[in-house]
Amino acid sequence: MSDKATIEVNGQKYDFPLVKGTENEVAIDIKSLRGATNGVVTIDPGYKNTGSCTSAITFLDGEKGILRYRGYSIEELAEKADFLEVAYLLIFGELPTQEQLDKFHADIKSHSVVDDDVRKIVDAFPKSAHPMGVLASLTSALTAFNPSSVNVNSEEEMYKAIVRIMGKFPVLVAWTLRKKHGLPLDYGDKNLGYVENCLKMMFKQPNEEYVLDPVVVDALDKLLILHADHEQNCSTSTVRIVGSSHAGLFASLSSGISALWGPLHGGANQAVLEMLEAIKEDGGDTKKYMAKAKDKDDPFRLMGFGHRVYKNFDPRARIIKKSADDVLGNLGIEDPILDIAKGLEKEALEDDYFVKRKLYPNVDFYSGIIYRAMGIPTDMFTVMFALGRLPGWIAQWREMRLNNEPIGRPRQIYIGETLRPFKAINKR
Ligand code: ACO
Repeated sequence: MSDKATIEVNGQKYDFPLVKGTENEVAIDIKSLRGATNGVVTIDPGYKNTGSCTSAITFLDGEKGILRYRGYSIEELAEKADFLEVAYLLIFGELPTQEQLDKFHADIKSHSVVDDDVRKIVDAFPKSAHPMGVLASLTSALTAFNPSSVNVNSEEEMYKAIVRIMGKFPVLVAWTLRKKHGLPLDYGDKNLGYVENCLKMMFKQPNEEYVLDPVVVDALDKLLILHADHEQNCSTSTVRIVGSSHAGLFASLSSGISALWGPLHGGANQAVLEMLEAIKEDGGDTKKYMAKAKDKDDPFRLMGFGHRVYKNFDPRARIIKKSADDVLGNLGIEDPILDIAKGLEKEALEDDYFVKRKLYPNVDFYSGIIYRAMGIPTDMFTVMFALGRLPGWIAQWREMRLNNEPIGRPRQIYIGETLRPFKAINKR
């Protein structure tokens, strides 16, 4: 394969180098395009063909349905690792030794207390506030309580910022849920594992012991691993681009949470459950909703179907589908919503419209069913996604800063009015 690409503009040829990844992905490096051509740029709304960076964190092949963190397959990690190990792997590049993992966990625990004044901010929100808005605000507010900016050239400072947010974020997640339920806020239990502590902080009632269910712990651990990173998706690109202005880690993460909120991204898990509920209320007629999804005059889309990158299957959806069966079976829950989901999936996979467009169930199609079985309210689903995505966002932010990436600032092609004289108000 040649190592350059030639672009011809107005009869003039320009050569550009090719960049090759370790998995043989190829990109045309157009860094010099605008300068060489006197102002020509590329345009690619939604960045469907644009690589914003090189990255050594996550590899995914949407055509083959492959997802790997730092070279390890998602299937193997979901089966053999726990969430904190995966977080360490994503952020620092290698699986931790037992000693490294114990230290990481101990450091996270020692930074897991949130300034008590943050409660006042939590108190100021109405109970009806969407948990994602609350979480984004609280994450941003952490900046006020931890004002010193991180010197990214100091490994020690970077590490401290990382364990600080890994420690405090689950507290914010739990407080978001507890506020919604009118429960007192607390700081969890240092003796528990990371995921166990998250569950206890969320669900402990003030007047009774909280008993951990290993089935729920295992299911949540898996869900968090599956959501932990997904290369340059909307929220991760947001974290990187905000961080590229040298905004701090907490502020960058807060922007990522806002990006994740949308129903075309992380908000899809809430949207899927609401859609399945609506189908159930409407008599369970999946065919009617399939027809709506295919009708171009109807804005309805089959939520949890389709993906910008996966045009085969989403490997995470396979793992989650099995996990949904296991969790519901183990907890003895019969959920008619799961049957509707399976019915929709079967119909869509056999339907020409979906087959032609390569629309397969994505990670969010089944995750909501598991969250629901765990007792997590529907509008908290995307918050759980954020809890899982946290290490991915941190890893991507760290990589971007260590690579000294320039500030993210796309160009545009202006299509508005050309210069025109100002019209006095009485002449308009
Ligand atoms: N239901 C019905 N039709 C769909 C769906 C769907 N869920 N998804 C895509 N299509 C159709 C489009 O209408 C379009 O049809 P056309 O070619 O006839 O115009 C074609 O499939 C391609 O769709 P695009 O929107 O161009 O694909 P894109 O890559 O831009 O969008 C997206 C991907 C946003 C995920 C889309 O599939 C979607 O809206 N899905 C539902 C929301 C969802 O589940 N989001 C979660 C994604 S996973 C995540 O973020 C964690």
